[in-house]
Amino acid sequence: MSIETIAIIGPGNVGGDLGRTLARAGTKVVFGVRAGKDAPALTAGSEGRITTATPAEAARIADAIVLALPAAAVLDVARGLGDLAGKIVVDANNPLRIDRGPVWNPPPEGSLAQALAAALPGARVLKGWNTFGHEFHADPRTAAGPVTVPFAGDDAEAKLAVMELARKAGFAPVDCGPLRNASLLENLAVLWIHLAMAGGQGRAVAWQLIGRQ
Ligand SMILES: NC(=O)c1ccc[n+]([C@@H]2O[C@H](COP(=O)([O-])OP(=O)(O)OC[C@H]3O[C@@H](n4cnc5c(N)ncnc54)[C@H](OP(=O)(O)O)[C@@H]3O)[C@@H](O)[C@H]2O)c1
Repeated sequence: MSIETIAIIGPGNVGGDLGRTLARAGTKVVFGVRAGKDAPALTAGSEGRITTATPAEAARIADAIVLALPAAAVLDVARGLGDLAGKIVVDANNPLRIDRGPVWNPPPEGSLAQALAAALPGARVLKGWNTFGHEFHADPRTAAGPVTVPFAGDDAEAKLAVMELARKAGFAPVDCGPLRNASLLENLAVLWIHLAMAGGQGRAVAWQLIGRQ
């Protein structure tokens, strides 16, 4: 399977930057935008590769959907997108609270991605694009090569399709196994946030899997 159109629900730091990067690589991107937001600014300069729609309409017309929302809003917004059975849904969000630094704060299902899978019957849920700062969503290049993007999910075909999309857009995707491993990816993000903010490393650091196949 290949992904022709991807919906990005939440065109903020992560969603906006990722959407523009995917569009530059030739994927059709539709931003799911709440009423009253500045849609022209989102599509400027995209030569038609980026459009906007309501979140539910964006999800309806896309083959795959990236959720890039405040983590506390993810489940409610996702449930409001309509029937997502058969759609690929990528969870780029990190459920955390701040207590002198980031603390992982998952729902009872074990991770936000697993809670999404439980909330969206039939959706092909993946975790990914959550483990580095949005500056790398804007430009996946690093001095050591493309930034590594771990993906976890139970649907092998969906994971392959998203990884191919990511590779085309300049990322170095890595299959990190089943959706239960989403908890590891969420914790990798918590560690990145600690290092970048409390740990004094700054936002220009990223994880790199060396020696990868
Ligand atoms: N920032 C990072 O570097 C980074 C890196 C990796 C992962 N993440 C994760 O990515 C997610 C997004 O972070 P962000 O920094 O991109 O946040 P952000 O800049 O605040 O963007 C959030 C987006 O969600 C939209 N939104 C909020 N509530 C909504 C709703 N009820 N319905 C539809 N859209 C809604 C906002 O749209 P409006 O303009 O309408 O409010 C905005 O476009 C978070 O879960 C975060 O943990 C962030």
